[in-house]
Amino acid sequence: MQIIENIQTWKEIRNALNKTDRIGFVPTMGNLHPGHLSLTQTSRDENTCTLVSLFVNPTQFNNPEDFTHYPRTLEQDLDLLRTAQVDYCFIPQAETLYLDNYRYQISENLHSNDLEGACRPGHFTGVLTIVMKLLQIIRPHTAYFGEKDYQQYALIEGMTKAFFIDTNITLCPTIREPSGLAYSSRNNRLSPQQRQQAEQFATIFHQGNSCTQIEKDLSQAGILVEYIREKENRRYAAVNIGGVRLIDNYQFSLRSA
Ligand code: PAF
Repeated sequence: MQIIENIQTWKEIRNALNKTDRIGFVPTMGNLHPGHLSLTQTSRDENTCTLVSLFVNPTQFNNPEDFTHYPRTLEQDLDLLRTAQVDYCFIPQAETLYLDNYRYQISENLHSNDLEGACRPGHFTGVLTIVMKLLQIIRPHTAYFGEKDYQQYALIEGMTKAFFIDTNITLCPTIREPSGLAYSSRNNRLSPQQRQQAEQFATIFHQGNSCTQIEKDLSQAGILVEYIREKENRRYAAVNIGGVRLIDNYQFSLRSA
């Protein structure tokens, strides 16, 4: 696997690729887990080469503490990517990506202030801006996103259409632990007791009860609920367990109730 730290190096590699090559791109903030690795596997299955980016994007953290505590596990991530036979790993610096000091931003003004956007003001502007920058640099044929962050996926997919970006945006299923808890970098921050609550969260959220009942059951289990909501045939949840925010969602129709 080739590690790329500057944009010019990637441009040269990209220009030297064959016209028939297909580039698959998996943007990440590192601290990789099986959810990320399933994205890289899908990318490898569908493309001739796969590039993963590792960049903890400061502009998408509305809470500076969350940014500071975000786990940075570079060596472990590189080992996992090598084992997963990823071709390229792009590790840019914030100063390079934000040469403009975040003066230019991509914002969406219909869905990005709902759900996660309502709880984390500015979050999606940070996400859309960094993803736009990365798509412009990497110019992949396809980029892969996990269903756990469905709202993020939908906003990115809308952005690529709105700005005529020539990249397919592919949604890949949420990967879950045997308990049903979705893999997330944040799970590493849970104490053993909090992890039990997180597993309870997954169980209760997927039981198929009404949103009101789910909220009640979660509160009874001592779990702080930020939202349980249904929107466009999908159920969304965000909870806070000892300061660790966990989110989940699944497709839902009245027939599945
Ligand atoms: O989902 C993530 O890890 C991040 O939001 C992303 C897409 C890599 C942008 O920083």
